[in-house]
Amino acid sequence: MKIIGHRGAAGLAPENTLPSFQAALDAGVTWVELDVYAIDQELVVFHDDMLDRCTNGTGPIQSTPLAHLRTLDAGNGAQIPLLQEVLNLLGPDIGVNVELKGPRTARPAIQQIREYVGKGWPPERFLLSSFDHAQVRLAQQEAPDIPRGVLIGRRPVWSARIAEKYGATSLNLNRRSVHRRVVADAHRKGIEVWVYTVNDPAEAERLRDMDVDAIFTDRPDLMLA
Ligand code: G3P
Ligand code: MG
Repeated sequence: MKIIGHRGAAGLAPENTLPSFQAALDAGVTWVELDVYAIDQELVVFHDDMLDRCTNGTGPIQSTPLAHLRTLDAGNGAQIPLLQEVLNLLGPDIGVNVELKGPRTARPAIQQIREYVGKGWPPERFLLSSFDHAQVRLAQQEAPDIPRGVLIGRRPVWSARIAEKYGATSLNLNRRSVHRRVVADAHRKGIEVWVYTVNDPAEAERLRDMDVDAIFTDRPDLMLA
């Protein structure tokens, strides 16, 4: 089972900051997850739609100019990073699940990934995912070669049909929505099941026994140990 550092290693350093991704690398992950918004022609790595919880700023991220975002403290003095800064830190050997948070993020994310693929990074080292399935659809149409994941919130899921519909390589489920039946159905369809957010090693073992393919965790250090 693959261990994916969630927002870098959100349990070890301020989430979605360069120190968080460094902590994930130090823990020995092979994959990380991060969240992106498109602001002023750049992709910034940030989870919430509001700035308040994770920075010393306030208000909606999407109406804040990039220049101001970059002056904010996202924890321990770290900046809100650009996607390219995180990719440069990680290098070509670490998988990156780019979760598309805001609207109109699919196209800029595809463009950015294409730049790195052009430099020789393997496309299968990326996964584009979103709760906004219109963004997943757009990714399917415009970048069929870049792997996609369909994200589902906390609700019962009994089959992997929705992932099949979007030609997705993975069905990314809330930890409370995963059942053996959906894992078996996904595997029959050649689709992986990735589960978020798992921070309890005993739960991780149960999921591994259910044949889950990957978990997202804030504590990759604990899970890899
Ligand atoms: O992509 C997995 C997980 O990050 C989805 O939920 O809210 O933590 O972005 P959230
Ligand atoms: Mg996320």
